[in-house]
Amino acid sequence: MSEAQRTQVAIVGAGPAGLILARLLACQGVESIVIERRDRAYVEQRLRAGVLEQTTVDLLRAAGVGERMDREGLVHEGLYLQFDGVRHRIPLRELTGGRAITVYGQHEVVKDLIAARLGGGDEIVFEADDVRVLDVDADLPTIRFKVDGDERTIRCDFVAGCDGFHGVCRSTIPAETLSVYERHYPFAWLGILARTPPSLDELIYAHHERGFALHSMRSPELTRLYVQCSPDDTLDMWPDERVWEELHLRLATRDGWTLREGPVVEKSITTMRSYVVEPMQYGRLYLAGDAAHVVPPTGAKGLNLAAADVKVLAAALVDWYRTGRRDLLDAYSATCLRRVWRVEHFSWWMTTMLHRAPGDDAFDQRLQLAQLRYVTSSRAAATMLAENYVGLEHV
Ligand code: FAD
Ligand code: PHB
Repeated sequence: MSEAQRTQVAIVGAGPAGLILARLLACQGVESIVIERRDRAYVEQRLRAGVLEQTTVDLLRAAGVGERMDREGLVHEGLYLQFDGVRHRIPLRELTGGRAITVYGQHEVVKDLIAARLGGGDEIVFEADDVRVLDVDADLPTIRFKVDGDERTIRCDFVAGCDGFHGVCRSTIPAETLSVYERHYPFAWLGILARTPPSLDELIYAHHERGFALHSMRSPELTRLYVQCSPDDTLDMWPDERVWEELHLRLATRDGWTLREGPVVEKSITTMRSYVVEPMQYGRLYLAGDAAHVVPPTGAKGLNLAAADVKVLAAALVDWYRTGRRDLLDAYSATCLRRVWRVEHFSWWMTTMLHRAPGDDAFDQRLQLAQLRYVTSSRAAATMLAENYVGLEHV
Protein backbone atom coordinates (compact mmCIF):
# COMPACT_ATOMS: atom_id res chain seq x y z
CA MET A 1 0.00 0.00 0.00
CA SER A 2 1.34 3.46 -0.90
CA GLU A 3 1.46 6.35 1.58
CA ALA A 4 -1.62 8.47 2.15
CA GLN A 5 -1.92 11.51 -0.09
CA ARG A 6 -3.18 14.78 1.44
CA THR A 7 -5.50 17.27 -0.21
CA GLN A 8 -7.97 19.94 0.85
CA VAL A 9 -11.14 18.65 -0.86
CA ALA A 10 -11.63 15.10 -2.14
CA ILE A 11 -14.28 15.08 -4.87
CA VAL A 12 -15.93 11.74 -5.63
CA GLY A 13 -17.28 11.64 -9.21
CA ALA A 14 -16.21 13.34 -12.46
CA GLY A 15 -19.66 14.23 -13.75
CA PRO A 16 -20.75 17.85 -14.15
CA ALA A 17 -21.08 18.39 -10.37
CA GLY A 18 -17.60 17.11 -9.48
CA LEU A 19 -15.81 18.73 -12.40
CA ILE A 20 -17.45 22.15 -12.05
CA LEU A 21 -16.72 22.11 -8.30
CA ALA A 22 -13.07 21.22 -8.94
CA ARG A 23 -12.83 24.09 -11.43
CA LEU A 24 -14.47 26.66 -9.14
CA LEU A 25 -12.17 25.65 -6.28
CA ALA A 26 -9.06 25.77 -8.49
CA CYS A 27 -10.01 29.28 -9.62
CA GLN A 28 -9.92 30.34 -5.94
CA GLY A 29 -6.71 28.49 -5.06
CA VAL A 30 -8.31 25.57 -3.19
CA GLU A 31 -6.71 22.22 -3.94
CA SER A 32 -8.73 19.10 -4.76
CA ILE A 33 -8.44 15.58 -6.18
CA VAL A 34 -11.25 14.13 -8.30
CA ILE A 35 -11.82 10.38 -7.99
CA GLU A 36 -13.88 8.74 -10.77
CA ARG A 37 -14.96 5.12 -11.18
CA ARG A 38 -15.08 5.10 -15.01
CA ASP A 39 -12.42 5.76 -17.62
CA ARG A 40 -11.97 9.13 -19.33
CA ALA A 41 -13.45 8.06 -22.69
CA TYR A 42 -16.59 6.77 -20.98
CA VAL A 43 -17.35 9.97 -19.09
CA GLU A 44 -16.53 12.08 -22.15
CA GLN A 45 -18.94 10.15 -24.37
CA ARG A 46 -21.86 9.52 -22.01
CA LEU A 47 -24.82 11.11 -23.79
CA ARG A 48 -27.17 12.87 -21.39
CA ALA A 49 -28.42 16.41 -20.90
CA GLY A 50 -28.43 19.01 -23.62
CA VAL A 51 -29.96 22.19 -22.27
CA LEU A 52 -27.94 24.74 -20.28
CA GLU A 53 -29.75 27.41 -18.33
CA GLN A 54 -28.57 31.00 -18.64
CA THR A 55 -27.26 30.72 -15.05
CA THR A 56 -25.16 27.64 -15.93
CA VAL A 57 -23.79 29.33 -19.07
CA ASP A 58 -22.82 32.38 -16.99
CA LEU A 59 -21.14 30.18 -14.36
CA LEU A 60 -19.09 28.22 -16.93
CA ARG A 61 -18.03 31.46 -18.64
CA ALA A 62 -16.98 33.04 -15.33
CA ALA A 63 -14.95 29.90 -14.55
CA GLY A 64 -13.07 30.33 -17.83
CA VAL A 65 -14.44 27.17 -19.49
CA GLY A 66 -17.05 28.74 -21.77
CA GLU A 67 -15.02 29.37 -24.90
CA ARG A 68 -16.07 26.31 -26.99
CA MET A 69 -19.62 26.49 -25.57
CA ASP A 70 -19.86 30.09 -26.83
CA ARG A 71 -18.53 29.02 -30.23
CA GLU A 72 -20.49 25.79 -30.76
CA GLY A 73 -23.50 26.02 -28.44
CA LEU A 74 -26.87 26.87 -29.99
CA VAL A 75 -28.60 29.76 -28.24
CA HIS A 76 -32.38 29.32 -28.19
CA GLU A 77 -34.62 32.28 -27.49
CA GLY A 78 -37.84 30.28 -27.34
CA LEU A 79 -39.38 26.81 -27.29
CA TYR A 80 -42.59 25.23 -28.54
CA LEU A 81 -45.36 23.53 -26.61
CA GLN A 82 -47.52 21.42 -28.93
CA PHE A 83 -50.99 19.99 -28.28
CA ASP A 84 -53.99 19.14 -30.45
CA GLY A 85 -51.59 19.19 -33.41
CA VAL A 86 -50.83 22.91 -33.02
CA ARG A 87 -47.53 24.47 -31.93
CA HIS A 88 -47.38 27.45 -29.57
CA ARG A 89 -44.13 29.35 -29.08
CA ILE A 90 -43.01 30.46 -25.63
CA PRO A 91 -40.68 33.43 -26.26
CA LEU A 92 -38.20 32.77 -23.46
CA ARG A 93 -35.98 35.78 -24.06
CA GLU A 94 -38.83 38.25 -24.38
CA LEU A 95 -40.55 36.97 -21.23
CA THR A 96 -37.44 36.91 -19.02
CA GLY A 97 -35.82 40.26 -19.70
CA GLY A 98 -33.27 38.91 -22.17
CA ARG A 99 -32.38 35.46 -20.81
CA ALA A 100 -32.10 32.35 -23.00
CA ILE A 101 -30.97 28.71 -22.96
CA THR A 102 -27.99 27.17 -24.76
CA VAL A 103 -28.14 23.74 -26.34
CA TYR A 104 -24.71 22.19 -25.74
CA GLY A 105 -24.26 18.51 -24.82
CA GLN A 106 -23.40 17.58 -21.26
CA HIS A 107 -20.51 15.45 -22.55
CA GLU A 108 -19.10 18.53 -24.29
CA VAL A 109 -19.21 20.44 -20.98
CA VAL A 110 -17.47 17.46 -19.35
CA LYS A 111 -14.79 17.36 -22.08
CA ASP A 112 -14.09 21.09 -21.67
CA LEU A 113 -13.79 20.77 -17.88
CA ILE A 114 -11.50 17.71 -18.05
CA ALA A 115 -9.26 19.41 -20.62
CA ALA A 116 -9.03 22.56 -18.46
CA ARG A 117 -8.25 20.58 -15.32
CA LEU A 118 -5.62 18.28 -16.78
CA GLY A 119 -4.17 21.20 -18.77
CA GLY A 120 -3.66 23.04 -15.45
CA GLY A 121 -1.77 20.04 -14.05
CA ASP A 122 -4.47 19.06 -11.55
CA GLU A 123 -5.38 15.46 -10.88
CA ILE A 124 -8.33 13.30 -11.86
CA VAL A 125 -8.02 9.66 -10.85
CA PHE A 126 -9.95 7.64 -13.45
CA GLU A 127 -10.90 3.97 -13.08
CA ALA A 128 -10.89 4.07 -9.27
CA ASP A 129 -12.36 0.79 -8.00
CA ASP A 130 -14.00 0.03 -4.70
CA VAL A 131 -14.15 3.64 -3.49
CA ARG A 132 -14.74 3.89 0.30
CA VAL A 133 -15.48 7.12 2.15
CA LEU A 134 -14.46 6.96 5.83
CA ASP A 135 -14.46 9.17 8.94
CA VAL A 136 -16.54 12.01 7.53
CA ASP A 137 -17.64 12.81 11.09
CA ALA A 138 -14.00 13.33 12.16
CA ASP A 139 -11.62 16.21 11.33
CA LEU A 140 -9.67 14.29 8.71
CA PRO A 141 -11.89 12.18 6.44
CA THR A 142 -10.27 9.42 4.40
CA ILE A 143 -11.00 8.06 0.93
CA ARG A 144 -9.66 4.65 -0.03
CA PHE A 145 -9.83 3.05 -3.47
CA LYS A 146 -7.92 0.79 -5.83
CA VAL A 147 -6.28 1.71 -9.11
CA ASP A 148 -4.91 -1.17 -11.17
CA GLY A 149 -5.20 -3.34 -8.05
CA ASP A 150 -3.08 -0.96 -5.90
CA GLU A 151 -4.74 0.47 -2.79
CA ARG A 152 -4.59 4.28 -2.52
CA THR A 153 -5.53 6.51 0.42
CA ILE A 154 -6.38 10.19 0.39
CA ARG A 155 -6.84 12.27 3.53
CA CYS A 156 -8.69 15.54 3.21
CA ASP A 157 -10.45 18.37 5.04
CA PHE A 158 -13.75 17.82 3.21
CA VAL A 159 -15.42 15.27 0.92
CA ALA A 160 -17.72 16.36 -1.91
CA GLY A 161 -20.10 13.54 -2.83
CA CYS A 162 -20.64 14.23 -6.54
CA ASP A 163 -21.01 10.57 -7.53
CA GLY A 164 -24.52 10.63 -8.96
CA PHE A 165 -27.64 8.78 -7.93
CA HIS A 166 -25.98 5.33 -7.74
CA GLY A 167 -22.80 6.51 -6.03
CA VAL A 168 -21.38 5.48 -2.64
CA CYS A 169 -21.24 8.78 -0.75
CA ARG A 170 -24.92 9.07 0.17
CA SER A 171 -24.94 5.56 1.60
CA THR A 172 -22.06 6.37 3.99
CA ILE A 173 -24.40 8.72 5.89
CA PRO A 174 -26.29 6.99 8.75
CA ALA A 175 -29.77 6.29 7.34
CA GLU A 176 -31.49 7.52 10.50
CA THR A 177 -30.15 11.04 9.94
CA LEU A 178 -31.63 11.30 6.42
CA SER A 179 -35.14 11.87 5.09
CA VAL A 180 -35.95 10.71 1.57
CA TYR A 181 -38.74 12.15 -0.59
CA GLU A 182 -39.50 10.25 -3.77
CA ARG A 183 -41.90 9.80 -6.74
CA HIS A 184 -41.70 7.16 -9.45
CA TYR A 185 -43.44 7.82 -12.75
CA PRO A 186 -45.25 5.07 -14.66
CA PHE A 187 -43.48 5.97 -17.92
CA ALA A 188 -39.99 6.36 -19.38
CA TRP A 189 -38.26 8.09 -22.32
CA LEU A 190 -36.81 6.29 -25.27
CA GLY A 191 -34.19 8.65 -26.71
CA ILE A 192 -32.44 8.55 -30.06
CA LEU A 193 -29.65 10.57 -31.60
CA ALA A 194 -30.12 10.80 -35.37
CA ARG A 195 -27.61 11.99 -37.94
CA THR A 196 -29.88 14.54 -39.59
CA PRO A 197 -30.34 18.31 -39.26
CA PRO A 198 -33.01 19.38 -36.73
CA SER A 199 -36.45 19.73 -38.33
CA LEU A 200 -37.04 23.04 -36.55
CA ASP A 201 -34.56 25.45 -34.96
CA GLU A 202 -36.10 25.20 -31.46
CA LEU A 203 -37.23 22.48 -29.02
CA ILE A 204 -40.74 21.02 -29.32
CA TYR A 205 -42.44 19.53 -26.24
CA ALA A 206 -45.46 17.64 -27.64
CA HIS A 207 -48.53 16.44 -25.76
CA HIS A 208 -50.28 13.63 -27.66
CA GLU A 209 -52.90 11.05 -26.80
CA ARG A 210 -50.34 8.33 -27.65
CA GLY A 211 -47.89 9.89 -25.17
CA PHE A 212 -45.28 12.64 -24.95
CA ALA A 213 -42.62 13.36 -27.61
CA LEU A 214 -39.70 15.81 -27.67
CA HIS A 215 -37.69 17.25 -30.55
CA SER A 216 -34.27 18.55 -29.51
CA MET A 217 -30.83 18.70 -31.06
CA ARG A 218 -27.10 18.61 -30.43
CA SER A 219 -25.72 20.45 -33.45
CA PRO A 220 -26.80 21.60 -36.94
CA GLU A 221 -26.20 17.98 -38.08
CA LEU A 222 -27.52 15.99 -35.10
CA THR A 223 -31.13 15.71 -33.91
CA ARG A 224 -32.04 14.40 -30.45
CA LEU A 225 -35.55 12.95 -30.13
CA TYR A 226 -37.49 11.28 -27.32
CA VAL A 227 -40.78 9.33 -27.18
CA GLN A 228 -42.61 8.38 -24.02
CA CYS A 229 -42.59 4.60 -23.54
CA SER A 230 -43.28 2.17 -20.72
CA PRO A 231 -40.60 1.78 -18.01
CA ASP A 232 -40.79 -1.98 -18.68
CA ASP A 233 -39.97 -1.60 -22.39
CA THR A 234 -36.65 -2.89 -23.72
CA LEU A 235 -34.69 -1.58 -26.68
CA ASP A 236 -35.50 -4.65 -28.82
CA MET A 237 -39.18 -3.62 -28.61
CA TRP A 238 -38.25 -0.34 -30.32
CA PRO A 239 -36.68 -0.97 -33.74
CA ASP A 240 -35.88 2.27 -35.58
CA GLU A 241 -38.99 2.02 -37.78
CA ARG A 242 -41.25 1.95 -34.73
CA VAL A 243 -39.48 4.94 -33.13
CA TRP A 244 -39.84 7.03 -36.31
CA GLU A 245 -43.46 6.01 -36.75
CA GLU A 246 -44.33 7.18 -33.22
CA LEU A 247 -42.32 10.38 -33.62
CA HIS A 248 -44.10 11.20 -36.90
CA LEU A 249 -47.49 10.63 -35.28
CA ARG A 250 -46.81 12.52 -32.05
CA LEU A 251 -44.95 15.49 -33.56
CA ALA A 252 -47.30 15.91 -36.56
CA THR A 253 -48.96 19.29 -37.04
CA ARG A 254 -51.84 20.28 -39.25
CA ASP A 255 -49.72 22.64 -41.38
CA GLY A 256 -47.76 20.08 -43.40
CA TRP A 257 -44.47 20.29 -41.38
CA THR A 258 -42.38 17.12 -41.73
CA LEU A 259 -39.89 15.47 -39.41
CA ARG A 260 -36.53 14.67 -41.04
CA GLU A 261 -35.30 11.11 -40.59
CA GLY A 262 -31.68 10.00 -40.52
CA PRO A 263 -29.45 7.14 -39.34
CA VAL A 264 -29.92 6.42 -35.62
CA VAL A 265 -26.50 6.61 -33.96
CA GLU A 266 -27.59 6.06 -30.35
CA LYS A 267 -30.67 4.71 -28.63
CA SER A 268 -31.43 4.33 -24.92
CA ILE A 269 -34.25 4.21 -22.37
CA THR A 270 -34.33 6.49 -19.32
CA THR A 271 -36.66 5.80 -16.40
CA MET A 272 -38.03 8.79 -14.58
CA ARG A 273 -38.11 9.71 -10.92
CA SER A 274 -38.19 12.62 -8.54
CA TYR A 275 -35.96 12.17 -5.48
CA VAL A 276 -34.60 14.41 -2.73
CA VAL A 277 -32.53 13.53 0.33
CA GLU A 278 -32.40 15.89 3.30
CA PRO A 279 -30.09 17.16 4.61
CA MET A 280 -27.47 17.25 1.84
CA GLN A 281 -24.59 17.17 4.34
CA TYR A 282 -23.25 15.08 7.19
CA GLY A 283 -20.09 15.92 9.14
CA ARG A 284 -17.49 16.89 6.53
CA LEU A 285 -19.33 15.24 3.64
CA TYR A 286 -21.38 17.44 1.27
CA LEU A 287 -23.61 15.87 -1.39
CA ALA A 288 -24.14 17.71 -4.68
CA GLY A 289 -26.04 17.05 -7.91
CA ASP A 290 -27.72 13.69 -8.58
CA ALA A 291 -26.12 12.22 -5.43
CA ALA A 292 -28.63 14.32 -3.47
CA HIS A 293 -31.57 14.80 -5.83
CA VAL A 294 -33.01 13.64 -9.13
CA VAL A 295 -35.65 15.24 -11.36
CA PRO A 296 -37.48 13.78 -14.35
CA PRO A 297 -35.86 15.18 -17.52
CA THR A 298 -38.93 17.09 -18.78
CA GLY A 299 -37.76 20.39 -17.28
CA ALA A 300 -34.13 19.92 -18.52
CA LYS A 301 -32.89 20.69 -15.03
CA GLY A 302 -30.62 17.92 -13.63
CA LEU A 303 -27.28 19.23 -14.83
CA ASN A 304 -28.28 22.80 -14.08
CA LEU A 305 -29.24 21.95 -10.52
CA ALA A 306 -25.92 20.15 -10.05
CA ALA A 307 -24.15 23.34 -11.20
CA ALA A 308 -26.20 25.47 -8.78
CA ASP A 309 -25.29 23.18 -5.83
CA VAL A 310 -21.58 23.29 -6.44
CA LYS A 311 -21.58 27.05 -6.86
CA VAL A 312 -22.95 27.28 -3.29
CA LEU A 313 -20.52 24.64 -2.04
CA ALA A 314 -17.46 26.23 -3.66
CA ALA A 315 -18.30 29.62 -2.13
CA ALA A 316 -18.75 28.03 1.33
CA LEU A 317 -15.47 26.08 1.14
CA VAL A 318 -13.51 29.10 -0.12
CA ASP A 319 -14.94 31.18 2.73
CA TRP A 320 -13.87 28.51 5.25
CA TYR A 321 -10.30 28.47 3.91
CA ARG A 322 -10.14 32.28 3.83
CA THR A 323 -11.78 33.15 7.15
CA GLY A 324 -12.15 29.91 9.13
CA ARG A 325 -15.88 30.62 9.43
CA ARG A 326 -18.29 27.69 9.14
CA ASP A 327 -21.59 29.53 8.70
CA LEU A 328 -21.82 29.13 4.91
CA LEU A 329 -20.84 25.46 5.17
CA ASP A 330 -23.39 24.86 7.91
CA ALA A 331 -26.08 26.54 5.78
CA TYR A 332 -25.13 24.59 2.60
CA SER A 333 -28.01 22.09 2.65
CA ALA A 334 -30.69 24.63 3.56
CA THR A 335 -29.42 27.07 0.93
CA CYS A 336 -29.44 24.43 -1.82
CA LEU A 337 -32.75 22.83 -0.85
CA ARG A 338 -34.68 26.03 -1.51
CA ARG A 339 -33.71 25.89 -5.19
CA VAL A 340 -33.90 22.07 -5.29
CA TRP A 341 -37.57 22.06 -4.26
CA ARG A 342 -38.47 24.86 -6.69
CA VAL A 343 -36.89 22.83 -9.50
CA GLU A 344 -38.48 19.58 -8.23
CA HIS A 345 -41.85 21.27 -8.48
CA PHE A 346 -41.21 22.69 -11.96
CA SER A 347 -39.96 19.33 -13.30
CA TRP A 348 -42.91 17.44 -11.80
CA TRP A 349 -45.32 20.05 -13.19
CA MET A 350 -43.90 19.89 -16.74
CA THR A 351 -43.92 16.08 -16.53
CA THR A 352 -47.51 15.70 -15.35
CA MET A 353 -48.75 18.32 -17.84
CA LEU A 354 -47.21 16.57 -20.84
CA HIS A 355 -47.25 12.79 -20.26
CA ARG A 356 -50.02 10.26 -20.51
CA ALA A 357 -50.04 7.92 -17.48
CA PRO A 358 -51.59 4.46 -17.73
CA GLY A 359 -55.08 4.75 -16.27
CA ASP A 360 -55.44 8.43 -17.18
CA ASP A 361 -58.97 9.07 -18.34
CA ALA A 362 -60.71 11.81 -20.31
CA PHE A 363 -60.88 13.95 -17.16
CA ASP A 364 -57.08 13.87 -16.70
CA GLN A 365 -56.56 14.66 -20.36
CA ARG A 366 -58.92 17.63 -20.27
CA LEU A 367 -57.10 19.02 -17.23
CA GLN A 368 -53.78 18.75 -19.10
CA LEU A 369 -55.19 20.50 -22.16
CA ALA A 370 -56.73 23.24 -20.02
CA GLN A 371 -53.31 23.82 -18.42
CA LEU A 372 -51.51 23.82 -21.77
CA ARG A 373 -54.04 26.30 -23.23
CA TYR A 374 -53.57 28.56 -20.22
CA VAL A 375 -49.76 28.46 -20.33
CA THR A 376 -49.77 29.30 -24.03
CA SER A 377 -52.37 32.06 -23.86
CA SER A 378 -51.71 33.90 -20.58
CA ARG A 379 -48.57 36.04 -20.51
CA ALA A 380 -48.36 35.57 -16.74
CA ALA A 381 -48.50 31.77 -17.01
CA ALA A 382 -46.05 31.68 -19.93
CA THR A 383 -43.67 33.90 -17.93
CA MET A 384 -43.82 31.44 -15.04
CA LEU A 385 -42.74 28.63 -17.37
CA ALA A 386 -40.11 30.79 -19.08
CA GLU A 387 -38.38 32.07 -15.94
CA ASN A 388 -38.14 28.58 -14.49
CA TYR A 389 -36.95 27.10 -17.79
CA VAL A 390 -34.13 29.62 -18.33
CA GLY A 391 -33.27 29.21 -14.63
CA LEU A 392 -33.96 31.40 -11.62
CA GLU A 393 -31.01 33.54 -10.54
CA HIS A 394 -28.51 31.77 -8.29
CA VAL A 395 -28.60 32.85 -4.65
P1 FAD B 1 -23.43 12.26 -12.84
O1 FAD B 1 -23.43 12.94 -14.17
O2 FAD B 1 -24.21 11.01 -12.69
O3 FAD B 1 -21.92 12.03 -12.44
C1 FAD B 1 -21.56 11.22 -11.35
C2 FAD B 1 -20.17 10.65 -11.62
O4 FAD B 1 -19.77 9.87 -10.50
C3 FAD B 1 -20.16 9.72 -12.82
O5 FAD B 1 -19.09 10.07 -13.67
C4 FAD B 1 -19.99 8.34 -12.21
O6 FAD B 1 -19.29 7.44 -13.07
C5 FAD B 1 -19.22 8.66 -10.95
N1 FAD B 1 -19.36 7.65 -9.89
C6 FAD B 1 -20.46 6.94 -9.56
N2 FAD B 1 -20.19 6.12 -8.53
C7 FAD B 1 -18.90 6.33 -8.19
C8 FAD B 1 -18.05 5.78 -7.21
N3 FAD B 1 -18.48 4.83 -6.39
N4 FAD B 1 -16.78 6.22 -7.14
C9 FAD B 1 -16.33 7.17 -8.00
N5 FAD B 1 -17.09 7.72 -8.96
C10 FAD B 1 -18.36 7.32 -9.05
N6 FAD B 1 -30.26 17.57 -17.13
C11 FAD B 1 -30.38 18.85 -17.61
O7 FAD B 1 -30.01 19.79 -16.88
N7 FAD B 1 -30.82 19.14 -18.87
C12 FAD B 1 -31.20 18.14 -19.70
O8 FAD B 1 -31.55 18.43 -20.85
C13 FAD B 1 -31.14 16.78 -19.23
N8 FAD B 1 -31.46 15.74 -20.01
C14 FAD B 1 -31.24 14.48 -19.59
C15 FAD B 1 -31.50 13.45 -20.49
C16 FAD B 1 -31.24 12.15 -20.10
C17 FAD B 1 -31.55 11.04 -21.08
C18 FAD B 1 -30.70 11.86 -18.80
C19 FAD B 1 -30.38 10.45 -18.37
C20 FAD B 1 -30.44 12.87 -17.92
C21 FAD B 1 -30.70 14.18 -18.31
N9 FAD B 1 -30.43 15.25 -17.44
C22 FAD B 1 -30.62 16.53 -17.91
C23 FAD B 1 -29.91 15.01 -16.10
C24 FAD B 1 -28.39 15.18 -16.00
O9 FAD B 1 -27.76 14.39 -16.98
C25 FAD B 1 -27.90 14.80 -14.59
O10 FAD B 1 -28.70 15.48 -13.65
C26 FAD B 1 -26.42 15.17 -14.39
O11 FAD B 1 -25.61 14.25 -15.07
C27 FAD B 1 -26.05 15.19 -12.91
O12 FAD B 1 -24.67 15.42 -12.78
P2 FAD B 1 -23.85 14.83 -11.55
O13 FAD B 1 -22.45 15.26 -11.76
O14 FAD B 1 -24.55 15.14 -10.29
O15 FAD B 1 -23.99 13.25 -11.69
C1 PHB C 1 -32.01 16.92 -24.66
O1 PHB C 1 -31.71 17.62 -25.65
O2 PHB C 1 -31.44 15.86 -24.40
C2 PHB C 1 -33.13 17.36 -23.77
C3 PHB C 1 -33.77 18.55 -24.03
C4 PHB C 1 -34.81 18.95 -23.20
C5 PHB C 1 -35.18 18.16 -22.13
C6 PHB C 1 -34.52 16.97 -21.87
C7 PHB C 1 -33.49 16.56 -22.70
O3 PHB C 1 -36.21 18.55 -21.33
